Amino acid sequence: VADNASKLVRYAKVARVFTPGAPINSQALFAGRMPQIMEVVNASMQRGQHAMLYGERGVGKTSLANVLHEFLSDATLTSVKVNCSTNDTFVTLWTRVFRELAIDPELDGTPVDPDDVRYLLQQRLVGPALVVIDELDRLDDDEALSLLADTVKALSDHSVDVTLVLVGVADSIDELVGDHHSIERAIVQVPMQRMPLDELVEIVDKGLDELDMTSTQAVKERIGRLSEGLPHYTHLLALHAAQYAVMDDRDAIDPADVDVAIKRAVQKATQSIQSSYQLATRSPRPDSQFEQVLLACALAPKNELGYFTAGSVRRPLSRIMGERKEIPSFARHLNKFTEPGRGAVLQKSGESRRFFYRFANPVLQPFVILNGIARGLVEEDLVLELQEESRSVISHGEDDGWQQLFDD
Ligand SMILES: Nc1ncnc2c1ncn2[C@@H]1O[C@H](COP(=O)(O)OP(=O)(O)OP(=O)(O)O)[C@@H](O)[C@H]1O
Ligand SMILES: [Mg+2]
Repeated sequence: VADNASKLVRYAKVARVFTPGAPINSQALFAGRMPQIMEVVNASMQRGQHAMLYGERGVGKTSLANVLHEFLSDATLTSVKVNCSTNDTFVTLWTRVFRELAIDPELDGTPVDPDDVRYLLQQRLVGPALVVIDELDRLDDDEALSLLADTVKALSDHSVDVTLVLVGVADSIDELVGDHHSIERAIVQVPMQRMPLDELVEIVDKGLDELDMTSTQAVKERIGRLSEGLPHYTHLLALHAAQYAVMDDRDAIDPADVDVAIKRAVQKATQSIQSSYQLATRSPRPDSQFEQVLLACALAPKNELGYFTAGSVRRPLSRIMGERKEIPSFARHLNKFTEPGRGAVLQKSGESRRFFYRFANPVLQPFVILNGIARGLVEEDLVLELQEESRSVISHGEDDGWQQLFDD
């Protein structure tokens, strides 16, 4: 039996390995994502090519950007990263990039336009450079975005030995840089989807390795499945499961540790997740069914952008309630979820009878499921069964399966 001091040391180490709140910053704990890395690495090998990484909130964009340079075996490479903030302009952004690159623009005059930036980089850089510009979605200044697109073009046209990697939350590159036809050939688009199960399992594997802990494949897959493709939840569940095992003097994580982890993950979710769940589902009437309908939405089959239809909510809701539920019985709930009164947790698009819905904040979706399990609204076995079903609906010839979800 370990003494308390050494237990605490291990307990703390678990929290350095499983980091639900922070991006990965070293290759040792970075899992999967090989196809995406290869695309960016290829782009950086070719002069004139740049890359754009985009996807849902929380899928792992920053983590990938953080470890990119470790995959580029060039010792002469300079790699820097800056984050955009809401009040940045083209000039403030590039001033920060130059500071990171240890280039003092004062000597050549402050760069104010794309060609100044191009000139300065060309004059002052010794050797190749990788410049990551993250959180591009936060940049409010439209002019800054179009100047950034012009910078990509200028760097590309002059074959400057710099690779720009633009990173941000978006469904498509247009959403980030607007009309991008002028830079289409200069930029490799790398969409970041949710992580597949085997990569989520790899996160748990690598972390446990680092901690000299073990677990069964079944336990790792269970943590992976409950994460719904979002690595944040893999870290959150693995963190609590491993800490519980450490406090119990065990090196192996067992299924009961995951049960505990689900409860803790729900209790310790961020304040903003907790309050948007409360706002969305609160009701003075115990039979209002807002919680069950939101849970069914979280479990409904979705397309690759996270959209689902009212038709696709029927089956999970019927299984959760244990009786057949048709659209009219929950259409009102769906509508309410899109209104400010319930925090607009769902976004609605499309037209009448062809509406699509999705979670405004994708990070809420796995929380709704974990909360449903923790609070006994749904059995975990049923969750796994519905997840399995929705995978097959989606993968069965996109159109058939997908269209079927509309018929009402
Ligand atoms: N490839 C990976 N291997 C291991 N853990 C990962 C990986 N990618 C992401 N994570 C973990 O998932 C969580 C979210 O990752 P990250 O912050 O990189 O996502 P993001 O897409 O940049 O999020 P945001 O949209 O909020 O900026 C973090 O806890 C991070 O440690
Ligand atoms: Mg990020």
